[in-house]
Amino acid sequence: MSSVIEDITARKIFNSRGEETLEVDVATGAGFGRASAPAGASRGKAEVVPYPEGGIDQAIKKVEELITPELIGMNADNQEEIDLLLHEIDGTKDFRKVGGNTAFAVSLATAEAAATSYGLPLFHYLAGYLVNELPYPLGNVLGGGKHVHGKAPDIQEFLVLPLKANTFSDAAKANVLVHQKVGSFLKKVDKTFTGGRGDEGAWASNIKSEEALEVVVKACEEVSSELGVECRAGLDIAASTLWRQKEKRYVYVQDGAKRDSGEQLDFVLRLTEDYNLAYVEDPFHEEDYESFAEVTKKVKKCLICGDDLFVTNRERLARGAKICAGNAVIIKANQVGTLTDAWETTEVAKKTRYVPVMSHRSGETNDVHIAHLAVAFRCPVIKTGVLPGERVVKINELLRIEEALGDRAKMSIF
Ligand code: PGA
Ligand code: ZN
Repeated sequence: MSSVIEDITARKIFNSRGEETLEVDVATGAGFGRASAPAGASRGKAEVVPYPEGGIDQAIKKVEELITPELIGMNADNQEEIDLLLHEIDGTKDFRKVGGNTAFAVSLATAEAAATSYGLPLFHYLAGYLVNELPYPLGNVLGGGKHVHGKAPDIQEFLVLPLKANTFSDAAKANVLVHQKVGSFLKKVDKTFTGGRGDEGAWASNIKSEEALEVVVKACEEVSSELGVECRAGLDIAASTLWRQKEKRYVYVQDGAKRDSGEQLDFVLRLTEDYNLAYVEDPFHEEDYESFAEVTKKVKKCLICGDDLFVTNRERLARGAKICAGNAVIIKANQVGTLTDAWETTEVAKKTRYVPVMSHRSGETNDVHIAHLAVAFRCPVIKTGVLPGERVVKINELLRIEEALGDRAKMSIF
């Protein structure tokens, strides 16, 4: 069986927002891998540059002219070496020459090609036979911010985390039920609600942040007692999108409120207590490490997660870890470029006792690799939405992984 790379093809496809994105095929003597890049709408400033100047057409050219000639003949299972080579070919710190999404798609397609060359599912290929833990799915059920057009909550995402579910199937079911219930409660709370949904399939409704939280918490409580699973609410505040540097305030348009850093801290602390939140992502803007540390010190039993703050970058995470800024980190491989980079950041997370949260992006394709990466990297949580298709395919892949693990399958501990 040969895992030597024989051919690479790059093409343009569409993502869930109808934007063009890059898909890459890697063929080895005995295997085949295909991966496509997701896209962010509320991207962190310190993320790698997604595409070179000239956009996706140029990215395809870079694959054809710079990357393919170097990779052909290499062994696809030399992931580290290939990812290092991608850095060398690019030669910049932020992948601006070939594009971070270009590196991402090549890196992931290579891993998949290596796995299929050995007849293994990606998670087994990456992590060995002993891996058996499934992540808790963190699901977006109501949203606003940059993921919605028109009037909606200022906070980007209202989430559900089905803690204490015994199996991944139970957890996934709880999230679907919470999503459904939130939809039916919204009909009562918002007379203008017509069932609209944002980029990640979460309901979009013309209500304020706390009204939204009340609806989500009520849905969580009902599903908790119906299924015997402890569903708790969470938020992605995506605070960089609310922060106005000149005013030094977080501006909540829908709520008619402006908050300075101290007021934002009080607001977030009150929400975590009043609504028993299990998870808060990006409560402060992407350069405010100190406020992240402050809120982490003061919350009880709540994950404080950095997305735009850390951008899956190990140096930024290590800097945050020194002052305990947060206790969880979003892992989005295309924020940093390659599979190896994302893995190294996950390792820093584990060493510094941060919970790594494998995550989708608001613009997605039907690519299911993050389901495998969550298991292979032993991430206790995967954030991948609830509905529609491009979100649920990741959940469905985890259901298949759970089935494949059989009796050995167990839920992660964190
Ligand atoms: P994205 O952000 O729109 O950049 O993917 C989603 C998120 O903030 O988690
Ligand atoms: Zn986020």
